Amino acid sequence: MSMKLKSIHLSHYRNYSNLQLELNDGLTILVGNNAQGKTNLLEAIFLLSVTKSHRTNHDQELIQWGQDFALVEGQVQTENYSYPLSLQISSKGKQAKFNYIDQAKLSSFIGKLNVILFAPEDLQIIKGAPGLRRKFIDTELGQSHPVYLQELLTYHRLLKQRNRYLKDYGRSTKFDDLYFEVLSQQFIEQAVKVIGYRTKFVQDLARLAQEIQEELSGQKDQLTISYDASHSRLNYQEIDQLAQAFTDLFAANQQREKDQGVTLYGPHRDDLSFYLDGKPAQFFGSQGQQRTIVLSLKLAEIELIKELKGHYPVLLLDDVLSELDAHRQTVLMTRIANQVQTVLTTASLDGLNLDHLAHLSIYQVDQGHLEKEK
Ligand SMILES: Nc1ncnc2c1ncn2[C@@H]1O[C@H](COP(=O)(O)OP(=O)(O)O)[C@@H](O)[C@H]1O
Ligand SMILES: [Mg+2]
Repeated sequence: MSMKLKSIHLSHYRNYSNLQLELNDGLTILVGNNAQGKTNLLEAIFLLSVTKSHRTNHDQELIQWGQDFALVEGQVQTENYSYPLSLQISSKGKQAKFNYIDQAKLSSFIGKLNVILFAPEDLQIIKGAPGLRRKFIDTELGQSHPVYLQELLTYHRLLKQRNRYLKDYGRSTKFDDLYFEVLSQQFIEQAVKVIGYRTKFVQDLARLAQEIQEELSGQKDQLTISYDASHSRLNYQEIDQLAQAFTDLFAANQQREKDQGVTLYGPHRDDLSFYLDGKPAQFFGSQGQQRTIVLSLKLAEIELIKELKGHYPVLLLDDVLSELDAHRQTVLMTRIANQVQTVLTTASLDGLNLDHLAHLSIYQVDQGHLEKEK
């Protein structure tokens, strides 16, 4: 079973003044030159899933120039339900509706549509800064476990509070040890929760990605993934002893934290590492190997959503097919064909193998307008 986005409607979204699109259950291809609105459309679908763009943190950029709001609406269908989702962005912020009802908390809206997006920038998950990998975990974990987002918010609130106290009083005689200890205990408790979610997620993802990597690389590359504490010797596998380990670590480093005025340990500094045959892929992997890891990750996420939610998510492929060699393209297309609803963008249809697809639509994208070709 898979989740389907039956239709999407855009109003004043980026370069789309008004778009109504009915999607088929299989593959939809958006073809067009640069800067016509292909990625914008995928971005809008992604937004409907996680309420954030994958390209910008500034929601206002999504509003069509000269307009004062942007609206994205979609109709979702699962095995037993069919419901509308709507997200409106204005200068006042975001308004999310599930089944026409306002959702005061975005976390109760996130995940009503499950989407996996694969774009060229995703190579940064391997090569980029740790913050990008944390964002990757948080976004993907959030859509399968919306409650995680609540826990993460609480964690960041406690982190901010603890940092503020260290900054304001770390060097002062007014520093209240007892108060700080209470604050630290709350912080640690929340940190352990966040780490618990993340390590479980990474374990599940690694298990699936490893198999897929073997298929993609023809058994050659052994992929391992680990979630690590970036600058400490904390052992994240021993989750039941983690709180005590944190307490000891903070006790041993209190002076350093006071001097620097920040919390030195916790999930806000953690990282994810990828290894091929035991060697860090970030440093030793070729561009092609790194790209294969990202593809394995994305395909693993699709399977993980299926395991956790009971349905396949919608897959969005932004200009990535042309970067994959024939074998990887075939593995990808075979895995998704006729079971994962997919929207893909490309500059050209040349070289795409579109045989054996039960549902296929092709649209030409031209300055925010779609023209059906097939
Ligand atoms: N807020 C906005 N209002 C109107 N047009 C926008 C807005 N943001 C981006 N654009 C336009 O969208 C186009 C880029 O669309 P994009 O989907 O990234 O192109 P591509 O087809 O190459 O994927 C550009 O022409 C850009 O000027
Ligand atoms: Mg694009």
